[in-house]
Amino acid sequence: MSASAPLSSKPVTVPDFLSARARGVRLTMLTAYDYSMARLLDEGGVDAILVGDSLGMVMQGNANALTVTLDEMIYHTRCVARGVTRCLIVADLPFLSYQVSPGQAVRSAGKLLKAGAHAVKLEGGVRMLPALDALQRADIPVMGHVGLTPQSVHRMGGFKVQRDAEELLADARAVEAAGAFSLVVEGVPTAVGKAITEMVTIPTIGIGAGPDCDGQVLVWHDLLGLFDGFRPKFVKRYAELGVSAREALAAYCAEVRSGAFPGAEHGFQ
Ligand code: KIV
Repeated sequence: MSASAPLSSKPVTVPDFLSARARGVRLTMLTAYDYSMARLLDEGGVDAILVGDSLGMVMQGNANALTVTLDEMIYHTRCVARGVTRCLIVADLPFLSYQVSPGQAVRSAGKLLKAGAHAVKLEGGVRMLPALDALQRADIPVMGHVGLTPQSVHRMGGFKVQRDAEELLADARAVEAAGAFSLVVEGVPTAVGKAITEMVTIPTIGIGAGPDCDGQVLVWHDLLGLFDGFRPKFVKRYAELGVSAREALAAYCAEVRSGAFPGAEHGFQ
């Protein structure tokens, strides 16, 4: 298999994801929040789409993701699902949609699956075991998320790299033992990303966790240069669409004001 080949040319499944490590395929995942974004990722060969609650920041303009509601996640998951024929869709369980009780976790996750997600993601390790267990019993595929967990922004005192290796390994172990099919590892030292990846058998998806994870995830706006709220060190911009958009907007305004647009070719005869 070529190093640049996607996991599957057919619709990507949870078992495909689980087989990635054995097949030597590094997983690619990106966030998307609507139909047009999802179509680009689906056609672009990305393995999985995360309908992330990061939409609270990059789509809604909030300071963090805590304001995002389950209804908003359902809406965005539906929009994404309409644009997907191949990617695995993972939807984030937003803050306070799973922490109250295991029953609440199952009900919320079920709504995201009904909206078109194939799996859900929740943040936390050991302390989320009851919710993880309940989702496993309900047969709902779960992606874990340990390390810098954005929904814990206030406990962490900001979006800070997490360095307690013992606690991070215990969290990763708990998520795997509870039956998760994959694990996002965010904002940890490279050595910890490597240690977690070597310890668990499920694929790890890193974001600011170094090169040793089984795959990587980034936020759409960060990858494409569309968000300037803050720029974490782990982000690599593969395009500067914000710059292109500003240039296009300036050209449009200038042409409308000068009368150059619309031209004869844009009119109906
Ligand atoms: O919400 C999100 O986009 C995420 C990624 C940063 C992993 O959880």
